[in-house]
Amino acid sequence: MHPLLPATAELVTGFPSLAPTSPVVPSRSDAVAEALYTTGWCVLEDFLPADLTAALRVRAAVLESMGSPVQAGIGREEEHHLNQSIRETSIYWLNGADPAESAYLSIMEELRGALNRRLFLGLFEFESHFSFYEAGGFYARHLDALKGTRNRMVSIVSYLNPNWSERDGGELIIWDAGEDGREVAQILPKAGTVAVFLSEEIPHAVAPTHRPRLAIPGWFRINGSTADRIDPPR
Ligand code: OGA
Ligand code: MN
Repeated sequence: MHPLLPATAELVTGFPSLAPTSPVVPSRSDAVAEALYTTGWCVLEDFLPADLTAALRVRAAVLESMGSPVQAGIGREEEHHLNQSIRETSIYWLNGADPAESAYLSIMEELRGALNRRLFLGLFEFESHFSFYEAGGFYARHLDALKGTRNRMVSIVSYLNPNWSERDGGELIIWDAGEDGREVAQILPKAGTVAVFLSEEIPHAVAPTHRPRLAIPGWFRINGSTADRIDPPR
């Protein structure tokens, strides 16, 4: 059986509760806003409901079985610039056409509103993709946005892997802002966990994973349009 596929029972019973109580409650979104403002990053365990992470795993497995994910490049404008010494993963952009994707996107939309109310960031849209790492996959230390481009502002990575343990590797490593910031966290990519950080400030990496690893990195963006360059939502 495919490593990402859940037990058969999960597949046949469907997901009747896919309109879950939203996890975006003020105590959590306020905590995220506070952390972004102070340290620039935070991690919430058990943020996403288990039925949603299960549904997203099924969706991801279906996409994989159709061969839909593509090898990731480096940087948004350079999707075709492949450099496997930096990043070894394949991706599939969420578009909300599937119920699990749209449930996920509506949670992110709520979070976008909550962060805007607290931080006045003017976050304008959200983009995200499934990221499929085979055993051996990794992503070297990087920033998600170049400083000053004011495009991707806040990164949020959601993890979908059940029964993940330390021996499985694949940690998200986070450093304090700046060239010589200390390493401040190693986060296991356990189902339900999300990591949130400032895209232009916080260096991070994915340690080599020893098992297939599934995540949804995403970005809240401000409108990057200028007079000579229209930057539409995906
Ligand atoms: C990314 C990224 C982190 C992760 O895709 O830009 O940093 O834990 N992902 O998957
Ligand atoms: Mn990143």
